[in-house]
Amino acid sequence: MKILVTGGTGYIGSHFVVVAQQAGMDVVIVDSLENSSAKVVDAIESITGIRPYFYKGIDHDIGLLNGIFSNHKFDAVVHFAGYKSVAESTREPMKYYRNNVGGTAVLMEVMRNHNVTNFVFSSSATIYGFPQFNPYTESHPISPFNVYGHSKAMVETMMQSQCGAVPEWSAIALRYFNPVGAHPGGDLGEDPKGIPNNLMPYLTKVAVGALPELGIFGNNYDTVDGTGVRDYIHVMDLAEGHLKALEWVNSHRGFTAVNLGAGYGYSVLQIVEAFERVNGVKVPYSFKPRRAGDLPAYWADASTAERVLDWKVSRSLDDMVRDSWTWQSRHPNGYGDDS
Ligand code: WQD
Repeated sequence: MKILVTGGTGYIGSHFVVVAQQAGMDVVIVDSLENSSAKVVDAIESITGIRPYFYKGIDHDIGLLNGIFSNHKFDAVVHFAGYKSVAESTREPMKYYRNNVGGTAVLMEVMRNHNVTNFVFSSSATIYGFPQFNPYTESHPISPFNVYGHSKAMVETMMQSQCGAVPEWSAIALRYFNPVGAHPGGDLGEDPKGIPNNLMPYLTKVAVGALPELGIFGNNYDTVDGTGVRDYIHVMDLAEGHLKALEWVNSHRGFTAVNLGAGYGYSVLQIVEAFERVNGVKVPYSFKPRRAGDLPAYWADASTAERVLDWKVSRSLDDMVRDSWTWQSRHPNGYGDDS
């Protein structure tokens, strides 16, 4: 099977490329490198022994995409490319709509023109918005409250419309919860540019001494210990979930959406405790005011993925914190180490 992976040098995309190659797939990557390094292609090759085709470019470059689709006969597209900062999306909405929505519209148009009808999309639990019930099921109302979430919801709407218009299409939206961890080999991992927004990369930067302390946003939520609770999922489990999604699009028609989460949550303090216990590294922290826009606690109802994709998480919290540390401790400057 030959697949196009957009955003394939990004955190989740690169881990998916590794498992896809190891499953025997022929992988072509297109990535703008705005938020990732070309050195990820070397890292992928060092793990699998297979260097994926790589094209540098952005989704809304219709000329580039037509050229790629003319050079390769794809069986499916797995679409990770997109901006993902909630805070930035609020400051620069049109940057997010142009890239995340407009770019995907161009990609889907080029797919249509080249008769590629199988589409796997990296969506997000953010589209659910404020929880009307917890855990979130796929039937929870779609009510995003930030531009990033709106952009993901809009793409899901485009997918439903395309599948309605062209019955040969098969499209699945995978609604991620909180991806963390890294490939256990230590040479592939999360490498956000600048100061990390997300908990785990911030925590590992503190552990490696690149940042002085972790600020924990709020310790008076109505949770087990007052800190925020989220459904963390190992990035390798997430990557394997995409392989199952490819099987689904190859054997079904129409649109579907599936949560990819563990089905339970951990608090910030539980993450810190596990990290320190497993890795023998102290993580200095202090409590800060709540972060605007944060929800107290949510996690996935993961039953659809088990029923529809025959997939569920297999890696533990200890695996997540161990693999995150293996990557960060070996590469304190991420891919910049190799420059
Ligand atoms: C997790 C917990 C924070 C940083 C975001 C996006 C979501 C998805 C995943 C793309 C919360 C706490 C965090 C820190 C902290 N991304 N925290 N100190 O906000 O659940 O989800 O990333 O799809 O769309 O919204 O993830 O890692 O930022 O926060 O205390 O320095 O850690 O308050 O409880 P979040 P996060």
